[in-house]
Amino acid sequence: MKEEIANIQTEALSAIAAAAGEQELEEVRIAFLGKKGRLTVASAGMKDLSKDDKPVIGQLLNTTRYAITEALDTKGGILQDDADAASVEGIDLSLPALPLHPGNLHPLTLVKDRAITILRQLGFSLAEGPEIETEFHCFDALNTPAEHPARNEKDTFYFDSGKLLRTHTSTVQVRTMENQAPPVRVIAPGSCYRRDEVDKTHLPAFNQLEGLYVDSDVQVGDLKGALEFFYRAMFGEETKVRFRPHFFPFTEPSFEIDALLKLKGEEPKWIEVAGCGMVDPAVFDEICKARGDDFYDPDKVTGYAFGMGLDRLAMIQWGIKDIRLLIENDARFLSQFA
Ligand code: PHE
Repeated sequence: MKEEIANIQTEALSAIAAAAGEQELEEVRIAFLGKKGRLTVASAGMKDLSKDDKPVIGQLLNTTRYAITEALDTKGGILQDDADAASVEGIDLSLPALPLHPGNLHPLTLVKDRAITILRQLGFSLAEGPEIETEFHCFDALNTPAEHPARNEKDTFYFDSGKLLRTHTSTVQVRTMENQAPPVRVIAPGSCYRRDEVDKTHLPAFNQLEGLYVDSDVQVGDLKGALEFFYRAMFGEETKVRFRPHFFPFTEPSFEIDALLKLKGEEPKWIEVAGCGMVDPAVFDEICKARGDDFYDPDKVTGYAFGMGLDRLAMIQWGIKDIRLLIENDARFLSQFA
């Protein structure tokens, strides 16, 4: 029986070595170790052995089974490796991978985030409001009379319902004061709409960032200090800022802010960057009427407001000459801001 077992092992090992594929290897396994396989059948002969022979043959059967199983596993691994290699034949795995294009933030998002970060340092928090607005929130509450040119159908997008697309984010100031008692210190970035002809510096949809600070004793000096801080943080510590008297219906006094800036390839020049002023008492009166209380009584509170164009800020920041580039979604343009 010893001899028979030795033969089985020799034949099994050579059959395993000769197996050319996984299917063939499986057939060899069945032929030797399967239920009716040669080693299994040989093991059945154990019962006829003497007491002395049993442990010896038993051990031999075990080591043989082990040797065959081992050889099957090793060969199986080799066949698997061969199959893997064949499946990538012709592919050069040492070639560098194709570059990934993970994308990047839009320049408008970048300046908006930066502006918000700076204004947060001054204690402003974010406020929001709808883009489809009432005439009250866009004009009446902001001391803008019915005959004001901004209210003209030629300048503003009206709906049949009488509602309109907000022409500035000052609407959010009104909504904030309606809903929140002073002190308030909010900023509202968002889209605005005006019936402008499209050219290098105008789009009918653009983006503003508006700010409002109301408290018991807010002064022009606070306004100037805050906005000087903002533009220096935005454009560099050395940036010069000037306040030019101007007119807005909702602020008095009102100013336009210019910053002395050097655009790429140009001499430094004064560029208008924002409108601002002290909230007009007439606006506070409207808010008191709308709220039905006197928290915003102009004898008790003062405040400043400002508004700036984010598109313009981005154009200044990167020397972008045509505002239309900001909405054309040309990846060659946008990828420069990564
Ligand atoms: N709302 C003004 C505009 O759209 C900007 C502004 C805001 C001016 C606040 C003064 C105070 O042009």
